[in-house]
Amino acid sequence: MVNIRSKREVEQIRESGRVVYETLSTLEERIVSGASGKELDRFAEEFIRSQGGEPAFKGYMGYPSSLCISINEEVVHGIPSNRPFLEGDIVSVDCGVLKDGYYGDSARTYSVGTIRPEVRNLMRITEEALYLGIDSAVEGSHVSDIGHAVQSHVEANGFSVVRELVGHGIGRELHEDPQVPNYGSPGQGVELKEGMCIAIEPMVNLGDKEIYTKDDGWTICTRDGEPSAHYEHTIVVGHEYKGRILTNGVFEDTVTAQA
Ligand code: MF3
Ligand code: CO
Repeated sequence: MVNIRSKREVEQIRESGRVVYETLSTLEERIVSGASGKELDRFAEEFIRSQGGEPAFKGYMGYPSSLCISINEEVVHGIPSNRPFLEGDIVSVDCGVLKDGYYGDSARTYSVGTIRPEVRNLMRITEEALYLGIDSAVEGSHVSDIGHAVQSHVEANGFSVVRELVGHGIGRELHEDPQVPNYGSPGQGVELKEGMCIAIEPMVNLGDKEIYTKDDGWTICTRDGEPSAHYEHTIVVGHEYKGRILTNGVFEDTVTAQA
């Protein structure tokens, strides 16, 4: 069942999303050569709690940390470790917050110093694909229109879309219906309606789309060892929400006046 959120609930998701946004923004200057995922994770947990939230991933299905930190060929769900970041790395950070009963979820890929031009391009195309997915998530469109928009942009640029992991509805649970694949043909699946809240999260590989799970049971990696990027926003569907993205720190124009 796909939930429809009231305006009040959307604003609560936006508040959790604000904490996610601020966490990810504050991390930016800390993602430098020599820093480690464990450090970031400690910092993020403290910050999230200082904002009255809790890290949504910690303890989720037994996951041990507050953030997922995935370096280079790691796609998603990397467990923060003491491995220092190195010049040329890309680091995907995924952050979820639960505050006052509602969840926000967002991810970005950061670069450490100078990275190869094709990896920079991978990051740019993945972020653009996220925004094209968001643009296609309007009332009356269907869930698969999102994946179609993402996949078209990614493949037109010579990269590949991971199939096994998907975006999701979000609200009172971290993962709700519907599933939101990052590929597919248009016009399929649930019709999007005002008040639906979903997390769109393309995972894009520089090389082949195939992945495997590491022995730690969590970390997803590309099979061919080439890097992968991940961008995610929580959004609300509906023309009357000007601030449709709930995890970008924009709130002043949240809801337009209602007749
Ligand atoms: N961040 C993932 C998502 O965006 C969920 C991570 S769950 C965890 O849906 F257990 F790995 F943390
Ligand atoms: Co998510």
